Order: sequence, then structure tokens, then C-alpha cells
Amino acid sequence: MPSLLAKNEPQMNSLSTQTPAAPAGSTTALPPGFELGVSTSAAQIEGASALDGKGPSIWDAFCARPGMIKDATNIDVACDHYHRYAEDIERMRWLGIDAYRFSFAWPRVQPLGQGAWNEAGFAFYDRLVDTLLEAGIRPNATLHHWDLPQALQQSIGGWQARETCEHFAEYAAEVARRFGDRLGAISTLNEPWCVATLGYERGQFAPGLRDRAAAMQVSHHLLLGHGLAMQAMRAALPARADGTKSQLGIVLNHTPAFAAEPTPEDLHAARIADGLDVRWYCDPIFRGAYPADAIEHLAVDAPRITAGDMAHIRQPLDFLGVNLYTRHWISTRNPPLPAPGRHGFSDMGWEIVPEVLTQHLVRLARDYMPPPMFITENGMANADVLVDGEVHDTARVDYLRGHLDAVARAIELGADVRGYYYWSLLDNFEWDSGYAKRFGLFHMDYATQVRTPKASAHWYREFIARHRAQR
Ligand code: FCB
Repeated sequence: MPSLLAKNEPQMNSLSTQTPAAPAGSTTALPPGFELGVSTSAAQIEGASALDGKGPSIWDAFCARPGMIKDATNIDVACDHYHRYAEDIERMRWLGIDAYRFSFAWPRVQPLGQGAWNEAGFAFYDRLVDTLLEAGIRPNATLHHWDLPQALQQSIGGWQARETCEHFAEYAAEVARRFGDRLGAISTLNEPWCVATLGYERGQFAPGLRDRAAAMQVSHHLLLGHGLAMQAMRAALPARADGTKSQLGIVLNHTPAFAAEPTPEDLHAARIADGLDVRWYCDPIFRGAYPADAIEHLAVDAPRITAGDMAHIRQPLDFLGVNLYTRHWISTRNPPLPAPGRHGFSDMGWEIVPEVLTQHLVRLARDYMPPPMFITENGMANADVLVDGEVHDTARVDYLRGHLDAVARAIELGADVRGYYYWSLLDNFEWDSGYAKRFGLFHMDYATQVRTPKASAHWYREFIARHRAQR
């Protein structure tokens, strides 16, 4: 087996614009047992935002603020998955997926984010999990996919307050106690970078703050909350008859930074971007310290760390979830050099670069020696149109093929990657973009709630069937 990248391989700009493109129709095989699935999250699909005792989340509140969501929509109904989960699971069964990654809405099961549990909320997830198991699909849950109880935001400032870490750990333990007999995996957080940076520094996501020092304190509290939740769940997980337990981990989003040119300015900017994105979360988790260059760059905005915090954060993981969609192209010229976009750009304007996925997985394996990795999200928004009941999203098929190939190559190079989850099952609420951006394998008609499989759904289904046949 070829070895991992050599230690001295440059990280920031080693994929030059001359890197050969991935062969379009290549069929690199994934190893037998490699898991194929799809991902969603509660706030983006469930709807029923005030039903059966659910409390409001910061995203309910954010949608109500004029100008925050580009198409002025909200998540009251979304894909109505709360009522249509059973038919959506039928779609998953049709696709043939091994596992489904969804999230619990914290305010659905604990409306105030502390204190009383909402039994009707837990009953929904019982139905969801049991129906998945009956369909032969492994349920993998995320505890916090951004929809923090609004009550915690209002009363103590959400993740700005250290107490939120403890409330989060209590919620995590309760889910582990109640669902640990049935969940394949539990992730503490989804993409803490987005919560801290987009939510508290750039004001683009809920709760909509613009304060870098607050955002960095939030990032530290998210990591601390993760560490406390891991410990609380380890203690609370029930034993199963077969001796197995739910696997525990975290999902990080990585947008690897690439210097447009090998100038000192571009290389420095790429290094700082990498420090605040990839290393800011991986270093504490795997090494117990924040990266020194990022701390120095942040200066007075660096977070306050209490003695003992880093030990709480550095908890052993059973798996690492990696969400990767694109790269961060960094040019300090004025005007900046545009990203090459040899495989094009998605409808989000994100550059399509499948080879970055290979390179990044190999880098993570080399730099952090993580536990088994899963691609917990990867996908593209496409300007899909439904014509005569069909959606010809060939760009998405190319994206899927290119990225599955990229994962297979990373495995050949020695990275331990065990699964891939496409984002997303259905078109859904794409945060501040509202419903205007479509990532789904199934097209949503939001007026009628009709779901239609796109060409990419048919392609993924066949891919999964072929993969199954070689096991
Ligand atoms: C990720 C989010 C997910 C979805 C995709 C497109 O950052 O985790 O909810 O919005 O982007």
C-alpha cells in the first residue's frame, strides 16, 4: 500500500492549478464494508417548529428577524419531515443506504435547554429511530446541528456562557441513556466553526452577532461542551446484549486553505486561515492545545481558558466526522486572483475540487492519527429544474462520482475512511439562503411537499447496489 504523504510535503498550495483532473468516469472501488449514507439536520427538514411542546430555537428567532434569510422564509414547515418521516425512510430504503445521519432538535426534547424533558419530542425520535431500524438502516445522530434552544440564548447568551457547556452535557447524557441501545453513532457537534464564526463573528447565521472576541470564546465553549458531553455520554451509554456501544465522536467542517501563489503574503494568509479553521478544532481535540500561530494572530480576541479545560476537550473519539465541500482559495492581490475552478463552481459559488478531499484526508491521517474517519457531509447545490417529472442534475452526478473516487484514493494512500454521507437526502432549508439552494438527491416542491428523485438519486442508488454486490 502506498504510504501517506511525506512529512515535508507542502500543505497550503500543493495542489497547483496544474494538478491533473480526476478522470471523469473513473470507478475506483471502495473497500467492502465501506458505509454509504445520506445526511440531514432537524432544523432544515422537520418543520413542526412549535408542535407537541417543542420550544423555539435560535434559528426560529433568526428567521423572524427581517433581512436575515435571503428569501424571507422560515422553518415552520420546511420539508414537513416531522409528519412525513416514514415515507422519507422508504426513500432511503429505495436508495439502499446503510446509514442515515440526522440530528436531534435540542429544543424539541428540552424546550428551555435545561430542566424538564419533553416526552412528546423524544417520542418523535423513538418513532424515527425504530422505523429506520425496521428498514435495516443504521441511525446516526448529531446532538447539536445549530438549533440551540432560544431560551438559553435569551437568558445567558447561548454559547457565550460557560453554563451552556454543562447544559449541553446533560442533554447529551439523556440522549445517550434513552437512545444508546439503538444508535450506531452519536456526534456531539456539527461544524463548530460555522456556529462560532458565522453565528457570532460574521452575523450571517443565528444568533447573528458580529464580535470576534465573543466568537472565539464561543468556539472554546463549543469544544468544552463537546468534551463534557463525551464524558457524560461514556458514563450514560447502556450496555447492549452483544457488547457493542454507540460510537461517539464529533463532526468538523474543513475548507482547506490554498495560497493562490507561493508568495510570502499568500502563504502566510493561507497558514492563518488553516490555523483558524482546521487546526483550531483539531489541535485541541487531538493534541490538547490551540495552535500557537492562530493564538498570536488573534491577540486580544483569543479565548479565556480555565485550568483543566484542555484536558476535558482532549477526549478519545471513536470516530472523526469530516464535512468537506470545497477549498478556500486565498489571494492577497488586489483584485484577488480568482480560483481556477477547473471542475466548475456549485450554485453556492463554491469551487468544485474533488482532489482536495483526497489530499485533506491524507493530511488528517498524517498530522493527527485520528480514529476512523467518515465523510459526514459532501454535496453540491445545483440550480435544478423539474421538467416533466425529471431533474437532470448531471453536474451533481459528476460531483458525487468525483468525490467518491477521491475518498477511494485517500484510502489507497493509507487514510482510514469508513463511510461517506451525501448532503442531503432532500432539498431543504439552506440556512441564510432559505429554500433557494438545492442540495438534495430528491427535488422538493415546497408548495405540495412532493418529492421527486433526481438523476443523481438514481445514480447513487446504482452505485450503492454495485458496491453492495462486491462485498
Ligand atoms: C454544512 C451544514 C449543512 C448544510 C451544508 C450545505 O455546512 O452542516 O447543514 O447546510 O453545509
